[in-house]
Amino acid sequence: MCGIVGYIGSKNAKEILISGLKRLEYRGYDSAGVALTSDNLDVVKAVGKIVNLEEKINGFKKEAKIGIAHTRWATHGAPTEINAHPHMSCDKKIAVVHNGIIENYADLKEKLQRKGYKFSSETDTEVLAHLIEENFKGDLLKAVMDSLSVVEGTYGLAVIHADQKDKIVVARNGSPLVIGVGKGENFIASDVAAILSYTDKVIYLADKEVALLTLKDVNIFDLTSRPLKKEISKIDWDLEAIEKGGYDHFMLKEIMDQPQAIKNGLAGRASVKDGNVHLGGINITAKEFASVRRIVITACGTSWHAGLIGEFLLEKLAGIPTEVEYASEFRYRNPIIDPGTLLIAISQSGETADTLAALREAKQKGAKTLGIINVVGSTIAREVDGGMYIHAGPEIGVASTKAFTCQVSSLIMLSVYLGRMRNLSMSEASNVLQELLLAPEKIDEILQQAQKIKKIAAKYCKYSDFLYLGRNLSYPVALEGALKLKEISYIHAEGYPAAEMKHGPIALIDPDFPSVFIIPKNNLYEKTISNIEEIKARSGRVLAIAEEGDNFIQNLADDVIYIPKSHEVVSPILSTIPLQLLSYFIAIMKGCDVDKPRNLAKSVTVE
Ligand code: F6R
Repeated sequence: MCGIVGYIGSKNAKEILISGLKRLEYRGYDSAGVALTSDNLDVVKAVGKIVNLEEKINGFKKEAKIGIAHTRWATHGAPTEINAHPHMSCDKKIAVVHNGIIENYADLKEKLQRKGYKFSSETDTEVLAHLIEENFKGDLLKAVMDSLSVVEGTYGLAVIHADQKDKIVVARNGSPLVIGVGKGENFIASDVAAILSYTDKVIYLADKEVALLTLKDVNIFDLTSRPLKKEISKIDWDLEAIEKGGYDHFMLKEIMDQPQAIKNGLAGRASVKDGNVHLGGINITAKEFASVRRIVITACGTSWHAGLIGEFLLEKLAGIPTEVEYASEFRYRNPIIDPGTLLIAISQSGETADTLAALREAKQKGAKTLGIINVVGSTIAREVDGGMYIHAGPEIGVASTKAFTCQVSSLIMLSVYLGRMRNLSMSEASNVLQELLLAPEKIDEILQQAQKIKKIAAKYCKYSDFLYLGRNLSYPVALEGALKLKEISYIHAEGYPAAEMKHGPIALIDPDFPSVFIIPKNNLYEKTISNIEEIKARSGRVLAIAEEGDNFIQNLADDVIYIPKSHEVVSPILSTIPLQLLSYFIAIMKGCDVDKPRNLAKSVTVE
């Protein structure tokens, strides 16, 4: 995700900022920039790696003692130099770096444009620079506070002003920001990794707090200017641990990130009040949507599993016949595509070669195309007619975790969006969105069971074959659970529709071949219970992922992991979480390199 670094002191700010940005590289980014104040305010930006920025900034000979810097991971607008931070006010005196999403930026932008402010980027952040300029009457701290009083959304931000060379103003709401306290110098960062080599004394800003940093002082206020007393903490982690947020592996960090990742994707989009979803980048008119007769989803791997869930959602909520195709198969037959076909490409990376080729094939045949993509500005994101970013943040572990649940969350929103253009009632739409908004909290509850799941993993890690079984919406979850286990632990695992199991795979069952059942309490519960009975009758071991309050299952399954009750369309998100943790712990117990499983690449750009 985006990173922030800032410095005020007597050393060369340029060097400290560049070294801080390098410490944040592991988080993923697509462009970077710095703003430095010396005799005036200078901003230097570059697309791509920090070394590109470093090369450009080497020509900058003035010695600045104050500066702010940023690595951007695009959310609004492509990864270009113009969209990179810092963003400046029209008078070129204010520079802002920002992490998070300004939800009401379109509204603020329109108001500022009416007052004559000229925008140069496509970002939501740029509104902050102009808003602060509008409110600046000689006091930067006050201008930032006044501006934040009309801002909705999340932010970790830092601001400097060319005429106020003795201060940096920072603020936080929902996006981390830490202040590093030094002697005669102070630092800021979105992640302590960036400043740990300079100081281990830090103050963690809480939400809705603003800080004024000078050479000697750090003063913190709430948004009504009331001074706050904050504790200085000492960091005793090493750098590597910090990069992984204190977790042993990126995969575990990304599993744990899911409540926040899903919240980021929902922010400013899902509106329970009007039972609708607000999507900015769809670029297909209501009239064009009305002519859609059929949807084809195409994707690979985990994204294909999300597509299978999407098929169910789009048919149920939007009433549009939907098919799901492996991109690698779709591209090599002669798919029937007409102007009534909408093609949805799902991809975390936005670069998967087969998915891209399938998209191009569909476009060539006249389909309208949408993308459900994580990496902003990626090739697929650029080539689709429109779409939605899932806002999962960079996924570094090779095995996809948070991208999958964010893809499903996005597909729920898209299905409601399309459903509301057709026959989905406002009350059903509100109900689904309400339930979706509760998902992050429910995921948190599941994550708190990590130690219990670890104990279950210890019982199961000795087996070398697994069946994962589920029906209906739980069938793609079974496929995803099996894929996760096999790719990171190298244990053979197969996903099947639970009822299909008796048409062949049941021959495999013996006491050494366990089955993992995903069995939420829905209209297929009793039928799935019968499938469990069939396994038990053959001395098979059963681990069930069931809903809280289901006491019956305890008498049948050998082990049960409970997940909170939820609306049926949200349940695939919840039931996936314990399966991710189970795979993770089993793989660790087997001594596997979970972040870089053998033979796999994060982005498959070859056929
Ligand atoms: C599995 C996994 C892969 C990807 C697949 C598609 O954990 O990550 O199966 O899902 O390679 O990648 P994207 O979504 O980037 O198109």
